[in-house]
Parts: sequence; C-alpha cells; structure tokens
Amino acid sequence: MAGKNGTGSSKERSPEAVAPRRIVLDVDTGHDDAVAIMMAAAAPELSLDMITVTAGNQTLPKTLNNTLNLCDDLGIDVPVYAGATGPLMRELVTAARIHGESGFDGPVFKPRKKQAEKGHAVNALIEYLMDALPGSTTIIALGPLTNIALAMKLEPAISTRIGELILMGGAIGRGNVTPSAEFNIHADPEAAKIVFGSGAAVTMIGLDVTTKILLDEQKMIDVRLIRGRASEIFVDSMDNYMTACRNYLGEYPAMHDPSCVAYVIEPELFRLGEYHVDIECSGEVTSGRTVVDIKGVSGKPKNARVAVDVLPDLFWPLLERTIRRWTYLGKR
Ligand code: RIB
Ligand code: CA
Repeated sequence: MAGKNGTGSSKERSPEAVAPRRIVLDVDTGHDDAVAIMMAAAAPELSLDMITVTAGNQTLPKTLNNTLNLCDDLGIDVPVYAGATGPLMRELVTAARIHGESGFDGPVFKPRKKQAEKGHAVNALIEYLMDALPGSTTIIALGPLTNIALAMKLEPAISTRIGELILMGGAIGRGNVTPSAEFNIHADPEAAKIVFGSGAAVTMIGLDVTTKILLDEQKMIDVRLIRGRASEIFVDSMDNYMTACRNYLGEYPAMHDPSCVAYVIEPELFRLGEYHVDIECSGEVTSGRTVVDIKGVSGKPKNARVAVDVLPDLFWPLLERTIRRWTYLGKR
C-alpha cells in the first residue's frame, strides 16, 4: 500500500495515539440526559471523569436517583455528585409533564449499590478544574446552569481554566417552554447570565439545531434490533419520552442533550457562528430568552459560539454505535 506521501515506503507512520478528551457532564437526568450519559461513557474519544447533578427536569433527589440508577445498571464507574436543589433566585419549575413523576419514567432498575460521592457538586467542579491543566477539560452542561454559575462565583478562576463549556440551552429562534425561552435557560436565567458573562469559552447548542435531531418510530426499531440492556433502557425510556413529547409538544422527541455529546465527538456535524449572547432575566414574557446578536448590532463583544445548523442524519450512526458498544463491548 502506498505510504502517506504516496512513495510506497514501507515505514508507515502510525497515527499518533490521541488521548481521550477529558469531560465532565452536568445533568438533570431526564430522558435525554440519560442518552447523553450513555453516549459519553461509551465513546472511545472521551474520558468521562465526573458527573454533577442539578435539579431541573425533576427535583434533585429524583435527578440524582435517575443518574445513579443508570450508572449502576450499566456499570458506569464514574463519581457522581449531588448539586443544586434549585435555581439561584427562583422557585424550581420542573418538566415533570415531559419526563414524568420520576423524571425518567419507563425503565425499571434493580436496587442499586452506587451512591453519590460525599461533598457538593460545586466544590467538586472547582477542585477538578483547579487540579486539571488549564484548558485540558471540557464541561458539558445539560440542565439549568445553577451548578456551573455557583462554581464560577465561588472560584472565578475556573472560568478561564475550562477548555470549552458546551451547554444545551437557549435558542436563536423560539423557545420550548415559553415562546421566548428554552427550558434550561428559563429554569435559571440568572445562572445563565453569569455563565455567558464569565469569559469562559462557551459553545451554545440550542433548539435551532437540537430540534432537527428527532427520534421517530423507525429509529426506535433500529435501536431495538440491537438488543442488550442499553437498548432496553433506551427503548423503554424513549417510549415514554416520545408519548409525552407528542402529547404536549405535538412533535417527535428531540435529542437535545445527546446533541452536545455528538458535537464533542464529531464537531464537523455542526455549523457554528460567534456572536454576542445575553440573557433576558426580567422580561414579563421574554424571561429566559437567549438574545443572540446575529447582526452584531449591539456592538458588544462576541462571548459565545452558537450552533446554527447540523447534519441530523450523521447523528444517528453515533447513537447506534453507542448502543452497540454497550451491547458488544460492555462499555468501551
Ligand atoms: O430544553 C431541553 C432541555 O431541557 C434538555 O436538557 C432536557 O433534558 C431539559 O433539561
Ligand atoms: Ca437535561
């Protein structure tokens, strides 16, 4: 076979081994959070170092329980920390109508051994980021940004130590919990304002792209055919998620949180632009809106990369790979 430079030299340079990218997930598990955890834990490109949990889709005891059940069941041996019990300045409004009374209705889990680590998620985040080489870690935030904002306020130095802060949240266009606002931002807009104003390298994966990655009946069949426990958890949970989304939103369920993990694994699936983003915190009908200055009319500095388009068809092979890796490799 010709060598890399086409000379036919026998000394093929083996591609340098690329170290897995170190990541932390901040979750409010939640059906789509669970898929994101399965995808991140099974990806050979990633090293899932820690999971921090916040209230959001359901109350913290429930989102923590869901996260621990999933990790225990699949053998995801990653430290899990309990975090914020609610937003910085508002009452918690959950998404129980979508995610159910448990926050993860559908799958049945055996009594679990896995427990949360001692200590608060915010302190764990700070310790992790202060110990790691600056820029060497990626935070993927998949719920309200309360834990992230609290950590930034407690130790401002972490903002510029995070290599990339990828967050599922917001929208250039319409919201999903109000006409203006997406759930994660709407739940805690003050936290979002802190995060977008922190100077951290923020990448916003919003509804503009996540609502293009919709789970339909054929994709459910494709995953069901793979079989195995991960397939069972996916199908049992997505059956519930699909019913709720179709009943209350009139649409197929979007892969909101898994989109962020897909972005980390294959960023070329997404097209992004750099813009100034601010958060509306006081509007009577616009609270929680991510105001993305596409035309630069504010003259304010660009503080975030925002996903503006995605190749949805290229997401599904990543999901199927995830389920296959769980089934045939028992994780990685
Ligand atoms: O708006 C979608 C987001 O809200 C997702 O993160 C989902 O899990 C819910 O938290
Ligand atoms: Ca979530």
